[in-house]
Amino acid sequence: MKNLVVYYSRSGNTETVAQEISKLVDGDVFKIELVKPIGFGWVGFTALAGLRGKIKPLTVNIKAYDNIFIGSPVWAGKSSTPVNTFLHETDFTGKNVFAFITQADFKTPGSVYESIAKRVEGNGGKVIDTFFIKTDMKNPLTPEQAKEAVSKWTDSIHYDK
Ligand SMILES: Cc1cc2nc3c(=O)[nH]c(=O)nc-3n(C[C@H](O)[C@H](O)[C@H](O)COP(=O)(O)O)c2cc1C
Repeated sequence: MKNLVVYYSRSGNTETVAQEISKLVDGDVFKIELVKPIGFGWVGFTALAGLRGKIKPLTVNIKAYDNIFIGSPVWAGKSSTPVNTFLHETDFTGKNVFAFITQADFKTPGSVYESIAKRVEGNGGKVIDTFFIKTDMKNPLTPEQAKEAVSKWTDSIHYDK
């Protein structure tokens, strides 16, 4: 089975988590990128409104993978706008999806998980499991911190390897 880790990261935390996941599940990695970087205030506003950010064309063939790990930071209590676009554009038919989130809050981001699951299922996929890491907006997450949390998660999830 082939694993893909696809994510958006503005300040590096979700990227660090994505890299640790990719090592642990032996997956390929693809970073979603905005066409134009956007400022803090606009990021929050557009996320709160549930908008989709304009992203660069996806140069990964999702069809080639069985398990898709999707990562997003939380913005204004919601998924990030670049990930919104990815979820909207992607056909998840037959895919097992694992969602991972980074956020400043320590509370489980239940509504973010639900909204991701709804969109994945709407496009034919199935969310198998979810995971989040609490980050600190002042200090970037280190690979060591990410690895410890991520390895507990990847050990606990059931996916065809
Ligand atoms: C505009 C903006 C809004 C945010 N809103 C929230 C929020 O509502 N809840 C939360 O827990 N964290 C929030 N955060 C914190 C980020 O989710 C957190 O720093 C995350 O790890 C950033 O990931 P990144 O480094 O991959 O971009 C927000 C950050 C930004 C920039």
